[in-house]
Amino acid sequence: MTLETRNEKRPQVSIIIPTYNESQNILNVLKSIGDIIPKNIFTEAIVVDDNSPDGTGKIVEDYLKNVKKIAGYTIDIIHRTTKNGLSSAILSGIQHATSDTIVVMDSDLSHPPQIIPKMIDVLKKYQCDLVVASRYITGGNIQGWTTKRKLMSKIATMIAKKGLGVKTKDPMSGFFAFKKNIIKELNFDALGYKLLLEILVKTKGLNIKEIPYTFENRKFGSSKLDYSTIVDYFKSVWKLYKNGKIKTTNEKRNSVRFLSKAARFFTVGASGLAVNYIISTLFTSGLTDFWYIHANIFGIIASISTNFILNKVWTFEDRDFSRKKTLSQFGKFSMFSSIGALVQIGIVFWLVDTYDISYPLALISAITTAAFSNFVLNKKLTFKEKLWN
Ligand code: GDD
Ligand code: MN
Repeated sequence: MTLETRNEKRPQVSIIIPTYNESQNILNVLKSIGDIIPKNIFTEAIVVDDNSPDGTGKIVEDYLKNVKKIAGYTIDIIHRTTKNGLSSAILSGIQHATSDTIVVMDSDLSHPPQIIPKMIDVLKKYQCDLVVASRYITGGNIQGWTTKRKLMSKIATMIAKKGLGVKTKDPMSGFFAFKKNIIKELNFDALGYKLLLEILVKTKGLNIKEIPYTFENRKFGSSKLDYSTIVDYFKSVWKLYKNGKIKTTNEKRNSVRFLSKAARFFTVGASGLAVNYIISTLFTSGLTDFWYIHANIFGIIASISTNFILNKVWTFEDRDFSRKKTLSQFGKFSMFSSIGALVQIGIVFWLVDTYDISYPLALISAITTAAFSNFVLNKKLTFKEKLWN
C-alpha cells in the first residue's frame, strides 16, 4: 500500500456503536469521533439502534439529514425492530461494516473516543489481531461506579479467567478493536453482553494486546445491564465452558499434573467434610426437626454430591455433562465413596486392634489411605483418565 488518504473509496475502520435509549448521548459520541479520528483514516461509524423508545434512532436520522459531511468520516444507522441484546446488536453492525478493521464501543461516552486512534495504531504497529481497551491493566481505571458494580465486574472477570482459561486482563471489556477476518469462521451464541469473551474463547493463537483506559460512568441515561444480563452471562460462560477447548494448565510434567489433581481431590474432600457437618447439624436444628441419623444421611448424600460435582468440574476438568454419562459417573463415585468409608473403618480397627496404634494416628493413616485409593479409583474408573498424568 502506498498512500492512505481520506478520499479512499472503502472505509479503513468501522466503528460499531449499539444504542438503546441513548438520546442524550449518541450525538456527542458521533461528534467526538469526528473530532478525534485522524483525517487520513477513512472511518465509518455504524449505529445499531433497537427501536429505542426515547427516539435515539430518529435523532440520528435527523442529524444525518442536516449535518455537513466531514471528509473521511461517514455515519450510518441500522434500525432493528426490537431490543435484542448488545452482542447481537454488535454482530448486526459487523455484518453491515465494509472495512476490515472493526472497533466496538458503547454509545454513552464511557469509552473515550480518544483511545480509538491508539487502538488502530497498536493493531498496525504490532500486527495484532485484537486490541482490548482495558480497565484492569496498569494505567486503566474505572470512575463513577458503585462498589457493588465494581465487585460484580471483578467477579465476572475472575470467573472468565479461572473458569475459561482466558488470559486477557479485561475480558469483560465492551471496548475493543479487531481484524474482521478473525471472526469469519465463528458461530456466536451472542447471549447478553459478552461478545469479546466469546471471541477470546473461540479463537486460537491470536496476537492480542491490551491498552489502558479510564472507564467513566455515563452522565446521562441509565445502564441497560439488568438481572437478565447477569443470567445471560452465566448461561454464556456455561456454554463456553462446555464447548471450550481451552486448557487451564500447560503443565507437561506428569508428576506435577498428578499431584496437583490429587491436591484438588483432597481439597474437595475437605470441603465435603464441611458440607456434611453443616447439613447434618442444620437438619436437626430448628429448620427441620429430623432424627439425627436421618439428618446425618442427608449430610452424607449432600457431601458426596458436592464432592462429585467439584471433582468433575475442577479436579478432572470433565466438561461432558450428558445425562447418561454424568449419572453413571455419579454412581461410581458414590460407590467408591461408600467403599472408602468401609475401608477406612476396617483400617482403623485393624491398626488399633492388631498393632495397638493410638486411635488418632490410626485414624489419620486410615483417612489418608482411603482418600488416596479413592482418588486413584475415581481417576481411572470414574473419569477414565490415565493413572499417571
Ligand atoms: N442496540 C442495542 N441493543 N444496544 C444495547 C442493548 C441492546 O439490547 N443493550 C445495551 N445496549 C447499548 C447501550 O445503549 C450502550 O451504548 C452499550 O450497549 C452498553 O450498555 P450499558 O447499559 O451502558 O452498559 P454498562 O455501562 O452497564 O456496561 C458496560 O461496561 C461493561 C464492563 O463491565 C459495557 O461496556 C459492557 O459491554 C461492558 O462489559
Ligand atoms: Mn454504559
